[in-house]
Amino acid sequence: MADNLLPLANHKRIDMNAILGTPRSLATGPGRFWRAYIAPQLAAFGGSAQPAIDSVRPDEQFAPSASARQFPSLFALRGVGKTYDGGVRALRDIDLDIREGEIFGIIGRSGAGKSTLLRTLNQLERPSEGSIHFEGRDLLSLDAAELRTVRRRIGMIFQHFNLLSSRTVAGNIALPLELAGTPKVQIETRVAKLLELVGLVEQRDRYPAQISGGQKQRVGIARALATEPRVLLSDEATSALDPETTQSILALLADINRRLGLTIVLITHQMQVIKAVAHRVAVLDDGRLAEQGEVADIFTRPTQEITRTLLREVIGNEMPPGVRERAARLLDGSGRLWRLAFRGQSVDRPVLAEAAERFTLKINLLHGYIDEIQGLPFGSLVVAASGAASALDAAAAFIAAQEISVEELAP
Ligand SMILES: Nc1ncnc2c1ncn2[C@@H]1O[C@H](COP(=O)(O)OP(=O)(O)OP(=O)(O)O)[C@@H](O)[C@H]1O
Ligand SMILES: [Mg+2]
Repeated sequence: MADNLLPLANHKRIDMNAILGTPRSLATGPGRFWRAYIAPQLAAFGGSAQPAIDSVRPDEQFAPSASARQFPSLFALRGVGKTYDGGVRALRDIDLDIREGEIFGIIGRSGAGKSTLLRTLNQLERPSEGSIHFEGRDLLSLDAAELRTVRRRIGMIFQHFNLLSSRTVAGNIALPLELAGTPKVQIETRVAKLLELVGLVEQRDRYPAQISGGQKQRVGIARALATEPRVLLSDEATSALDPETTQSILALLADINRRLGLTIVLITHQMQVIKAVAHRVAVLDDGRLAEQGEVADIFTRPTQEITRTLLREVIGNEMPPGVRERAARLLDGSGRLWRLAFRGQSVDRPVLAEAAERFTLKINLLHGYIDEIQGLPFGSLVVAASGAASALDAAAAFIAAQEISVEELAP
């Protein structure tokens, strides 16, 4: 069997979990935990390599906030549409609920309406149609004074930080409190706490020009949190940062979500960001809501073409050309080409090894991908299985019974 396993297609982080068991299960008994890297010459044995694209380290887990799924919606949008002066229909008939305590992602192509949608949430943009409720209140019915009060409960961070260059780090963070007329002593205590929360105690007296991009975004986050909002809106907050800094800002956002129970709505074109921190995601396409749901569902079973396109680079669903050719060569007229989709616990069993042994099959791995969303493994493997026809049928049924979907592909 080991020979068959060797050419495991290796995305940057394919481990051999699904076949040999996870490190956890291996740790309870004898054995090794291997990471197999496919070298070009191994591809001749049926492996295929994919470029590594993830900028977010997979080993760092962001556990979802415990409160995420249990609360009613914080924002309820019904039939929201927006037509700009000049006739651009940026949003059409959007129905969306954003729940208290969750990290909600919004993705879509450039111009799809993401920023417009986000800006309707704090009424920087007034919808042309529909209704938006926040904490049960109709946002569109508020007068200017009520809206100012509500906006203090909705923080926002931006791609380019929007800091005042003439104010120090502490001065930037204090600004919304000063505008709200908070007494000076209270401002000082609050700013000190926020500096600690975002890890900028030592930089408090520096000016924006004297700190790094990641630190600037930390100031942006602290400033947005100054008025103790219930929700943080983030428009591409990590897009101007390098991968490592992105990682640390995401860790901070996830930490704030978990510790403060703060709801976060984030727009990003970085799918890895959604994968790393978001609980649910909405996909916008040309102003319409193409689909929405749990990140794990949308990423493993996208139903819309736009979603597949957006996810193409993070989800290794695309079979590289050549896989079918190799399959045809390996199977030589008999046997089956299967795509196995794994999710959750099913990854914990060495199912393929069991199937090969039990039904006396030869299984060659041609292409594959195993990853994690919110700490749950998922993946897809394309394998060529050869053996007796009845054994192949039985093996497919056996694998499917382990909650792994088996799709037969034409070689
Ligand atoms: N103030 C405005 N006036 C007129 N049209 C606008 C205005 N703001 C945005 N639009 C248009 O509305 C559509 C949606 O824009 P929006 O900024 O919401 O897209 P986006 O999804 O955030 O794009 P990107 O990923 O490039 O930021 C686009 O066609 C855009 O040109
Ligand atoms: Mg935008």
